[in-house]
Amino acid sequence: MAAFKTLDDLGDLTGKVALVRVDLNLPMKDGSATDVTRVEAAKPTIIELCDKGAKVLLLAHFGRPGGQRSSMLSTSMVQGDVEKVLGKEIMFIPEVAGPVAQQAIDILRPGDIGLMENVRFWPGEEANDPGFAASIAENGDIFVNDAFSAAHRAHATTEGLAHVLPAYAGRAMEKELTALEVALGAPNPPVAAVVGGAKVSSKLAVLENLVGKVQHLVIGGGMANTFLAARGVDVGKSLCEHDLTETANKIMDQADQAGCTVHLPYDVVVAKEFAPNPPSLRTCNVHEVAADEMILDIGPQAVEALGDVLKTCRTLVWNGPLGAFEIPPFDEATVALARTVAALTQEGSLISVAGGGDTVAALAHAGVMGEITYVSTAGGAFLEWMEGKELPGVAALRA
Ligand code: 3PG
Repeated sequence: MAAFKTLDDLGDLTGKVALVRVDLNLPMKDGSATDVTRVEAAKPTIIELCDKGAKVLLLAHFGRPGGQRSSMLSTSMVQGDVEKVLGKEIMFIPEVAGPVAQQAIDILRPGDIGLMENVRFWPGEEANDPGFAASIAENGDIFVNDAFSAAHRAHATTEGLAHVLPAYAGRAMEKELTALEVALGAPNPPVAAVVGGAKVSSKLAVLENLVGKVQHLVIGGGMANTFLAARGVDVGKSLCEHDLTETANKIMDQADQAGCTVHLPYDVVVAKEFAPNPPSLRTCNVHEVAADEMILDIGPQAVEALGDVLKTCRTLVWNGPLGAFEIPPFDEATVALARTVAALTQEGSLISVAGGGDTVAALAHAGVMGEITYVSTAGGAFLEWMEGKELPGVAALRA
């Protein structure tokens, strides 16, 4: 696999303009960000480039404006949040190219930061129009991509710019790619993958890729119901994609052939209604789910068995909760798994890589965010990586 250049390959940048792609697609409430993890992740790159004397221009998308200006989706909406994290004032530039952008850049001094307008206000961004990329590149000397979470998009500022300017991976991108390589590229075996979440249909490609790569595939969440049903288990009123029975069987056959053990729960937590601590709550064997009950979490025996499997493994990749973790007590299995993973990681017997919005929320809820080897905040990009795809934004850095 071709290597990519990093900030280590850069010397003094005084007088140079660094165009830095970051992910500022932040969740917002009442005009400010509810989670600034992505800004915190990009901070080391931004500060390092400032310290090297560059004028740092941040390029980012915010929402999906569809190639048109929209005041609610201006990146100026997150300017205050970015300034707070960076501990520095930044200049908002209402363009990404052309004379207005050029004049603003001229005003910046070495070490100053400019935040450019939402790149998706221009149709050339999502169309990955080389002309659009070239117009942005006119104002820059180097391109730094620090937005792994947008690297699954082949857009002008995630992919195109890497072909017109000397391109470098930022520190967050470098850390992410290194961690992912350790988890699935060249992992230390045995490798376990835990895949949870509601629907098999949204993670089919992930499962198909993983069965050929890992020794243990643990299926949890609503997805497990579809696999249980495919094995002839009556899952009652549970969320289940009955039309995917054949697909689930095919995946289990592929796993068999590849020497991958698929783990499904043999005890489950069920209830008649999806509500916090419902009166109908009980734990039972998967073969004892009543017609009017729903499986909402995996049971304690399954959690224990899962812990035993992980004790034999050296590497874990995890995406998706094991139960309906947003409502107690259906968070118990996910929290227990998170704590086991954290303990094994801290003991040094397991390298653990987890990613995706729900998984990050579950790890935070379990209080173990800092005890996992690497936590990726990328959503779609993390899933596409788990599908085994080379992400366009990453491929362009390696070219
Ligand atoms: C994200 O929030 O996952 C990334 O910024 C990608 O956003 P998109 O799905 O709108 O491309």
